[in-house]
Amino acid sequence: NKSFNGSGNPRDFIAKMKDGKKRLVIFYGSQTGTAEEYAIRIAKEAKTKFGLTSLVCDPEEYDFDNLDQVPEDCAVFFVMATYGEGEPTDNSVTLMENLKDSSFEFSNGEHKLEGLKYVIFGLGNRTYEHFNMIARVVDKELTDMGAVRIGERGEGDDDRSMEEDYLEWKDKMWDEFARVMGVEEGQGGDTPDFAVQELESHPPEKVYLGELSARALTKTKGIHDAKNPYPAPITTAKELFTVDADRNCVHLELNIEGSGITYQHGDHVGVWPSNPDLEVDRLLCALGLYHRKDTIINIESLDPALAKVPFPVPTTYATVLRHYIDISALVGRQMLGALSKFAPTPESSEILKTYNTNKELYASVVSDGCLKLGEVLQLAAGNDIHAVPTPENTTAWPVPFDIIVSSVPRLQPRYYSISSSPKLHPNHIHVTAVVLKYESVHNEKVKQRWVYGVGSNFLLNLKYATDGNMPDAPLIGEPGKGEPAVVSQPKYAIEGPRNAYKEETSYKVPIHVRRSTFRLPTNPKTPVIMIGPGTGVAPFRGFVQERVALARRTIEKNGASALADWGRLSLFYGCRKSTEDFLYKDEWPQYAEELQGKFVMHTALSREVYKPDGSKIYVQDLIWEDREHIADAILNGKGYVYVCGDAKSMSKAVEECLAKILGEAKGGSAEVEGAAELKLLKERSRLMLDVWS
Ligand code: 2AM
Repeated sequence: NKSFNGSGNPRDFIAKMKDGKKRLVIFYGSQTGTAEEYAIRIAKEAKTKFGLTSLVCDPEEYDFDNLDQVPEDCAVFFVMATYGEGEPTDNSVTLMENLKDSSFEFSNGEHKLEGLKYVIFGLGNRTYEHFNMIARVVDKELTDMGAVRIGERGEGDDDRSMEEDYLEWKDKMWDEFARVMGVEEGQGGDTPDFAVQELESHPPEKVYLGELSARALTKTKGIHDAKNPYPAPITTAKELFTVDADRNCVHLELNIEGSGITYQHGDHVGVWPSNPDLEVDRLLCALGLYHRKDTIINIESLDPALAKVPFPVPTTYATVLRHYIDISALVGRQMLGALSKFAPTPESSEILKTYNTNKELYASVVSDGCLKLGEVLQLAAGNDIHAVPTPENTTAWPVPFDIIVSSVPRLQPRYYSISSSPKLHPNHIHVTAVVLKYESVHNEKVKQRWVYGVGSNFLLNLKYATDGNMPDAPLIGEPGKGEPAVVSQPKYAIEGPRNAYKEETSYKVPIHVRRSTFRLPTNPKTPVIMIGPGTGVAPFRGFVQERVALARRTIEKNGASALADWGRLSLFYGCRKSTEDFLYKDEWPQYAEELQGKFVMHTALSREVYKPDGSKIYVQDLIWEDREHIADAILNGKGYVYVCGDAKSMSKAVEECLAKILGEAKGGSAEVEGAAELKLLKERSRLMLDVWS
């Protein structure tokens, strides 16, 4: 058999398993990399616990017709994210089709997988209606085909408790796994995944200082995508809120001319942030690397099938912490167990161990306090986490750097709904981002502090830098002290590194475009209802611009009366006050004029206009007021409905309101007729959501 020497079909995972003596194959359906990370963690645990090695696979790279040929002493793992409205991730579309299609034959000539042993863990978000739909479907299809699940189906909830859900699920699963597979714990060992080597010297132009691909380093042409983002020059950067100094909303215009990047209205742009100075310095100090931060290091994978080096090398310690790994997120509970072995004192080791094993304590100190990796190390060593970290006030932990590389997740791009239309702005992508900043919960060990979102504060910094007035930020802000937001923003080094950097006159930021299905119907006669309070209005600015461009062309060709039979575009927007946070306030009347009354805006000013009983007016109240038109547009005009913004309360309330309107219009109830109508609209892609939590 040719495949045994590696020269066979590269899409044959069975051959690869046999070739590498792997008893586990782990497929991950991953969009942003989280499911892939969990897949790798599972592989590592199988190795440490049982000494079993795994093949970790992107399902896109393999064929599934021999899924029935998995040897009896082997098992298949599926780590499947559910994306958007119950959809599979891009890389698992074919896998899902194969499993669901009863005419798809495996090598046994049937659509059967009798006796196949499998494990399943799903990643989802409970604020969305189709929670973990993909994992559930995979589970059902496999069972229907005669496959046998090991343990329970795991379901992680990204909204609250992904990490805890995983930890809770996996211990029981491994017990079951050991029983079914007839293996025993203690066969494996704690072998490192990576070897880190400090290099004496290396050509400086070949050292990665934040670039995300080899092409970016060598500045050679190539397609720009998630694997090779484009450093887009920022041509315009401004703040959209005028009054409230404590809330910021950034508007950026990114130049894509000559990059080969194209986009459509409704697409998302992935922006690659870096970590703020404070966290980079803190962790450098806590790892005792502060004085060696610019030392060049090379990293090699000791088992490339299991764990690829997650970022380009050679690089430097500081670059890894600033650009490549996510050190600003809440530190995971499991990671603390691994790190406790490298504590500077037995006491600090004990403290980390307790956070690792005591779920309640972890929740009340680490999770409520929003502690990052560097902070938890400082806290366990008795350092003051509220002070500006220095090598003098921060205890150095002798953690081997390979442990950091294998246990801290990669820094991921942040996605924003594009707020422009390529028909009006072919060379620019507009981003509208509200700057995330919230208060941690005060606890015994950690005072209440500001917690800053990495992506949006990075964008705000780029805006300050573009203006030439980067604030000299005091690094630590405490809520309730009344200081203006501008001076308590975290600071990012955006001058130095080559990732986001200044060239000629403008700053550049690495981006790529992610396609979406959030699009206007092609026929302008179809009525459209758009609901987007706050920054949820972003894609709808693109939608309206798209229609404006079409109107200009139509009028040019057929005269002003040509829009007479167009459907109405209704936008339901909400903000606090017309004088404060009304996004793009000056633009909407112009769009309305150009669209000759075919664009109507309804605005809920929640802190300016109140109901007779004094309660707030929200978009859903305006939708209810406009119910006659809405029911007519949907039921008689084949209208399209779009909702964008907060998934938790707003989109739920809006859906309830729509169900009520449709139920009533059909002479029934919200729960029966209304819900059925909404379901139908969703199935026909006439009700689409772009919501986040
Ligand atoms: P509020 O902050 O005054 O409560 C954009 O953030 C707008 O959405 C604000 O006017 C905000 O009002 C409003 N908003 C907050 N919660 C909402 C909800 N559950 N449904 C609809 N709008 C909401």
